[in-house]
Amino acid sequence: KKVLVLHGPNLNLLGTRQPDIYGHETLEDIDNALYEEAALGGWEITCRQSNHEGELIDLIQAARIDGTVAIIINPAAYTHTSVAILDALTAFDGTVIEVHLSNVHQREAFRHHSYVSLRADGVIAGLGSQGYRIALSAVMSE
Ligand code: DQA
Repeated sequence: KKVLVLHGPNLNLLGTRQPDIYGHETLEDIDNALYEEAALGGWEITCRQSNHEGELIDLIQAARIDGTVAIIINPAAYTHTSVAILDALTAFDGTVIEVHLSNVHQREAFRHHSYVSLRADGVIAGLGSQGYRIALSAVMSE
């Protein structure tokens, strides 16, 4: 079985970007742990990061037709702005889990609303990079 992990804009800067909020791990560290966990469970996994809304939408659309059964997505700032990413996820039939490294509800008011949550089957926020690993184990135990 196949799972897609998507990281939105600026998450390529993890490790150096506001480490007090987002931690010291790099995106590569996070993805490597996910590749390991997926392999142990016998799952196929693809992890992608993009700073471009349209590219994230293209990747979600591709997942509709390539046998992907779940998407784990941290849409980053697009969480709070993107009806287009919500619509793309709505057109995807599998499981969707939304992940945020930080507890968005503890931060600025504009981070409290998520378009993506309207579609997400589950939401994890505030657990740092562990949130991705918890999301993956939930997906794999379905
Ligand atoms: C984030 C929270 C968003 O509000 C922010 O724009 C991000 C990262 C998180 O993982 O905590 O870029 O999605």
